[in-house]
Amino acid sequence: MARTVWDSTVGKKTVMAVSGLIMLLYLIAHMIGNLKIFFGAGEFNHYAHWLRTVGEPFMHYEWTLWLIRVVLVAAVVAHATSAYQLSRRDIRARPSKYVHKKPRASYATRTMRWGGIILGLFIVWHILDLTTGTVHSGGFQAGRPYQNVVDTFSTWYGNVIYIVAMLALGLHIRHGFWSAAQTLGAGSRTRDRALKTVADVLALLLTAGFIAVPVGVMTGVVS
Ligand code: HEM
Repeated sequence: MARTVWDSTVGKKTVMAVSGLIMLLYLIAHMIGNLKIFFGAGEFNHYAHWLRTVGEPFMHYEWTLWLIRVVLVAAVVAHATSAYQLSRRDIRARPSKYVHKKPRASYATRTMRWGGIILGLFIVWHILDLTTGTVHSGGFQAGRPYQNVVDTFSTWYGNVIYIVAMLALGLHIRHGFWSAAQTLGAGSRTRDRALKTVADVLALLLTAGFIAVPVGVMTGVVS
């Protein structure tokens, strides 16, 4: 049964929609958490520490954080695998006899594919930068994310990488949220306009909220 659903195009689209919505919830929480940087190092670092102790004493130190990490990795793998398989299917289904007039994927589809690749690369960079410190520009200090974030956005390439990724994220969420709503059956003639507005507002708020951090550092509001 599960196999049949997974093999169907609609099954893969459902996997994409559900995993996408899980990541969207994480991103809303992450963006709100990041904005605490405007309240100073004490509050931001305290929040980062809290992320590791949530659920205590029932949960051990970092258990909740690891649970979230496992769910997110599963969501990313499911999302990327179904995206890859759907795009292979789409390419195979194209008629090959019209070699000169090869039908190209629509603008939205191409933006989603490139956006997905950019975001995948960004997530790897971001974890190596601010979680493990492997590619960090300054002297990375575990447990001091405020200083680490300020160091990242004190380099030109840190700002370029994050801002380009956040713009890609906005476009990806704008179209992705809309597609997910259609796949999950939320779309209808009366609701489509409202769904489009929700997608626009979500994308705009997330992009602006995330970009506020590098802009805050660049303008000296956060230092
Ligand atoms: C300006 C934008 C962003 C800033 C300033 C930022 C900041 C941070 C910081 C400071 C951490 C480390 C937290 C800690 O160890 O306590 C972190 C972790 C993380 N961020 Fe971001 N983030 C941004 C955007 C994003 C975006 C757009 C995504 C996803 C597309 C993302 C996904 C993650 C993930 C998956 C982790 C790893 C969590 C973990 O396993 O510890 N972040 N971020």
